[in-house]
Order: sequence, then structure tokens, then C-alpha cells
Amino acid sequence: MMLSWHLRGIRGDRAMPHQARWLEAEFGWHAERVTEAGLALGLADLVPIACRGSSHPALLDHLARLIGARPGQTVLDGGCGLGGPMAWLTREHGCSTVGVDLMPSAARGARRLFPSSTVVVASLTALPLIPADAPVANAFTPPGTLAGQLAAAGLTVLASARAPDVGSAPAAWREPILAVEREIAHCHGGDPRYQLEARERAAFGRLQLSGRIVPWLLLVERPCSS
Ligand SMILES: C[S@@+](CC[C@H](N)C(=O)[O-])C[C@H]1O[C@@H](n2cnc3c(N)ncnc32)[C@H](O)[C@@H]1O
Repeated sequence: MMLSWHLRGIRGDRAMPHQARWLEAEFGWHAERVTEAGLALGLADLVPIACRGSSHPALLDHLARLIGARPGQTVLDGGCGLGGPMAWLTREHGCSTVGVDLMPSAARGARRLFPSSTVVVASLTALPLIPADAPVANAFTPPGTLAGQLAAAGLTVLASARAPDVGSAPAAWREPILAVEREIAHCHGGDPRYQLEARERAAFGRLQLSGRIVPWLLLVERPCSS
């Protein structure tokens, strides 16, 4: 299962370890601040603040249905960030999860927030489970090229659709996220890394609002080689 972003008119890029610097502000420095703030505030449920991409329970429900989530099922969460979706899958569906993320601080954060989680630092593009040339994680794919890229990587598309519009998250999810953001602004508002992360996130939001970035959900299969 992959979450891909279709980007109109901007060339796609693939995250490799040496490109981790492009992810540093949001998925490194900020992930670490979210972890600290969430623990300092003593939040009862850490899952909402640790869901940084799929930050809506209805979207997680949708993903769980797509993969047929069930007790005992092993799920590899590629680009797991702070591990919220993994913790949610374990809590709601009894899945056994393993997370992989390129950013050491995100992996450290996931382990602090969810001490029983298993998270490794690695690039998805270097894992033998995933074809080296597959568009993964922060894959920004111009329209019309994704099907060809997946076919070239030897992946068969089982389902492909725009991610459902689930509206705004329930208050039980929005409030802890806002509390954490307020705490980070209070403690680090003057830090240039805070300002860079805020600018990057705002720019991403504008691209989504304008329709230049479209979230797309794909269910793909890699045929077994016997
Ligand atoms: C938008 S965040 C989503 C995090 C998490 N899946 C969630 O929903 O909360 C994308 C994550 O993918 C990670 N990432 C990007 N490229 C990667 C790669 N090549 N290998 C592993 N992780 C990667 C980033 O560090 C970041 O934590």
C-alpha cells in the first residue's frame, strides 16, 4: 500500500538518504518537538499527534479496509514518521507492525511515544522488499507517469483512487494537535528551524488547496517470484 502524491507541473523527486536534509525541518526537527511537547503535556492519547500524514481516523479506517487489517497481520509502515498510524492499527485491529523511516529523529520519537513499537531507520528505496525504482514515500509524480513507473518497478495496481475527502478531523484529534503546536510555538517560536518548518508546511497546504498536489491512494501487489 502506498500513498502517492500527484503533482501537477513540478518534477517528481525520490527521497534518498543524502536527500534527508530536505525532510529535516518537518520530519526531523519538528517531529522531535512534537514528541517532546506531546510527552510534556501528558496527553492521554498520543496517536493523533503522531499521525502526520493520515491525520484523520476516517482515513485510517479507509486504509485499514484496503489492506484487510486483522489481528495478527504483519504490516510494514514505510515512512512511518512518529508511528501514529502503526499504533492505531495495533490498537484498533490487533495488527503487528514494523515501521521504517529515513529520519532518525522520527524513529526516536516513535519509540518514545509508543515504547512497544518496532521502528528502524532506513530508506524504503534500499529495502529488498520494495523494488528499488518504485515511487515510494514522498514520491511526487507528475500525472500520467505513475502507471508507467509502477509497471517498470514490477508492481501490479489492484486499486487506484484519489484519497477520500474526509473533512476535518473530530475534536478529539484536532485539540491535542493544536495543543502541541501551541506548545512548540511557545517554546521555539523564535527558532529559525521553527519558522522554516512553518513556511514549508504552509507552502504544502497552499499547493494542496490550489489542486497542484493531489493525494492518491494505491493498492499495489508485487508478484511473488518462485
Ligand atoms: C508525510 S510523513 C507521514 C508519516 C506517517 N506515515 C503518518 O501518516 O503520520 C512522510 C514520512 O516519510 C518519511 N520518508 C520520506 N522518504 C522516505 C524514504 N525514502 N524512506 C523512508 N522514509 C521516508 C519521512 O521522513 C516522513 O517521516
